[in-house]
Amino acid sequence: MTKGNFPVEKLKGIETPFYYYDTDLLKKTLKIVKEGTKKYGYIQHYAVKANANRRILELIASEGFGADCVSGNEVKAAITAGFPASKIVFAGVGKTDKEINLALDLNIFCFNVESMPELIVINELAAKKGKTAQVALRINPNVDAHTHEYITTGLNENKFGFSMAHLDNVTEVLKSLKNIKLIGIHFHIGSQIEDIHTFSPLCEKVNELQDYFEGKGIKLENINLGGGLGVDYDDPDAHPMPDFQGYFDLFNKGLKQREGQTVHFELGRSIVAQCGVLVTKVSYVKHGESKTFVIVDAGMTDLIRPALYQAYHKVENISSDLPVQKYDIVGPICESSDVFVKDYELNETKRGDILVLRSAGAYGEIMASQYNCRDLPKPYFSDKI
Ligand code: LLP
Repeated sequence: MTKGNFPVEKLKGIETPFYYYDTDLLKKTLKIVKEGTKKYGYIQHYAVKANANRRILELIASEGFGADCVSGNEVKAAITAGFPASKIVFAGVGKTDKEINLALDLNIFCFNVESMPELIVINELAAKKGKTAQVALRINPNVDAHTHEYITTGLNENKFGFSMAHLDNVTEVLKSLKNIKLIGIHFHIGSQIEDIHTFSPLCEKVNELQDYFEGKGIKLENINLGGGLGVDYDDPDAHPMPDFQGYFDLFNKGLKQREGQTVHFELGRSIVAQCGVLVTKVSYVKHGESKTFVIVDAGMTDLIRPALYQAYHKVENISSDLPVQKYDIVGPICESSDVFVKDYELNETKRGDILVLRSAGAYGEIMASQYNCRDLPKPYFSDKI
């Protein structure tokens, strides 16, 4: 999807700001992920948190993927979109009783459990229903994901998962929890991991832990390695997809997968990021003391990643071919952090021009808010406009 590939005339007719999804690219991405997983018999649970747009979920579900959910409402959204309960995993450090009961009633595949008190509550709630909950222990492997600190999850200082030091105790307590069936272990070290070799130490930790569990006489049927594969925000046209094959090959090489054991993944960003853009209109070009501001009608309420994680999204002016100028591209929200990018070279821009913020399909629309009483951005799809 290069600048020239946007249906500029059609986009111009839609009220901005809005999300625009290239469904062809999504379908191509799903095909490649499917091929990569099929090669090794891996199971893919799409991380719903990346984008829970109904149509996106339906397209992913229709390709046979499972779903990784982190709230009761995500579980409901996944079911509504056609993901079978038997392919739903449910993670999160703070599952409420209501959410656990919902998941038990739906007979989801697995709870990815993050603490001892949660394990005990799931056991109690399952017992009340006369059910057995299948669980995987989310283990914090203390592996550095080398990514932004807000999206690092696998270090001892993070709130996620069981610490390895507590596993002796957990395996002991599990023996007395009659309504829990331990079916595996789960990991997720962080997001936007650009160098796939960052996952090698995870493989080593998983191998060590497999030996540990076997030493305790526990056979693990499932290993879930989470998500985290990064995408190219700098040059989405050069890399509309990350190296999925290299990623799966790395795990295939590094993991000592046991006979009859199933390996699961929970990719989110890498599946949906590049198929989505945020489309916005220039309200004003304002000349400041030392800078020129392009003030657009989208703000941090529509795409919070730059404000929250200092994230970069490539911006293109699809209305202009004039020579580039330097601008700060900012939104209309009453917050100084409402800046998409500073000192940015953009084709000379005027009021009314249409800009696209690229690679916005993941953690974009789903993280939008109504701060300043703004409308939520609407989604549009390349095959339906
Ligand atoms: N599994 C678990 C347990 C997770 O916590 C996450 C993401 C994923 C899978 C999917 O990871 P992915 O493949 O998308 O990297 N809002 C942030 C990202 C937060 C990620 C949270 N967990 C952002 O915009 O960068």
